[in-house]
Amino acid sequence: MSVQTAPRRHVTIHELKRMKGAAEPIAVVTAYDATAARLVANAGVDVVLVGDSVGMAVLGHESTLPVTLDQMIHHAAAVRRGLARAGGRPHLVGDMPFGSYQASQDDAVRAAMRLVAEGGVESVKLEGGQDFVGVIQRIVRAGVPVMGHIGLTPQSVHKMGGYVVQGRDTDKAQQLLRDARSLEAAGCYAVTLECIPTELARIISGQLSIPTIGIGAGPHCDGQVLVLNDLLGLDDAFTPKFVKRFGELGQAITGAVGSYVAEVKARTFPDDAHAFHSSAVRLVPVADEQEEHHDEAAAFGAPV
Ligand code: KIV
Repeated sequence: MSVQTAPRRHVTIHELKRMKGAAEPIAVVTAYDATAARLVANAGVDVVLVGDSVGMAVLGHESTLPVTLDQMIHHAAAVRRGLARAGGRPHLVGDMPFGSYQASQDDAVRAAMRLVAEGGVESVKLEGGQDFVGVIQRIVRAGVPVMGHIGLTPQSVHKMGGYVVQGRDTDKAQQLLRDARSLEAAGCYAVTLECIPTELARIISGQLSIPTIGIGAGPHCDGQVLVLNDLLGLDDAFTPKFVKRFGELGQAITGAVGSYVAEVKARTFPDDAHAFHSSAVRLVPVADEQEEHHDEAAAFGAPV
């Protein structure tokens, strides 16, 4: 297993464009808290996405729909703090949650600005194609870079009739290509392509000058993104076709915690190596010496 400590470089949206031009693959992964952010940054990722997948991966929801803007800001700020302690400086992008950008362009601009100002993200991602050109233009004009997201867009799960691969027939594929081009024209710096045929992703990636980031979209995208929990193998019940499990941390965690439980039950933990000693501490008989030894005993955490 290779553990990499990334060189300290700041990945900007301009660096991502340069990477596309130089045919350097872009590695993107999600993170939802400070510890994960530090670990993935040290592993050398180029972009960290605070995805609204937090709703399913962390918060136990069945879809991303219940995730609120306040929750996204809360998790983004934690990730920002984790990145400050990391070796590398990946670009930080945060998802605009369901309901934060669909109702009005003013809402969308305000939500994007809160994600930047309070969550510390450097750009935002939102789902949708041609219909969202106006919203994207407004957010970009306000100074916030936008990553598009087309194909399987989980916030439209009910409209799609489930989590199904998109763009399999010619008409739908044509529409996705039009969507991708509109996103580029609207000012997006990159576009996520989720669960579309490899052949279509190749065409879209070839026609855009901005990077495409694929998930379930085959190998021809300019970069790839996976949900951290999925690539770590944290959930045995969730293994869609496009996910490769690069670790089996679910089993490792259950095994480690199981060992802890067993040692607590057997009274073999904590042993001497994990305990503190002091020759100044003595047990204080509660009845007769309580007053006299109150301060000393409390200072050592002894019963008083
Ligand atoms: O929310 C998320 O994690 C995402 C990725 C799946 C692209 O949008």
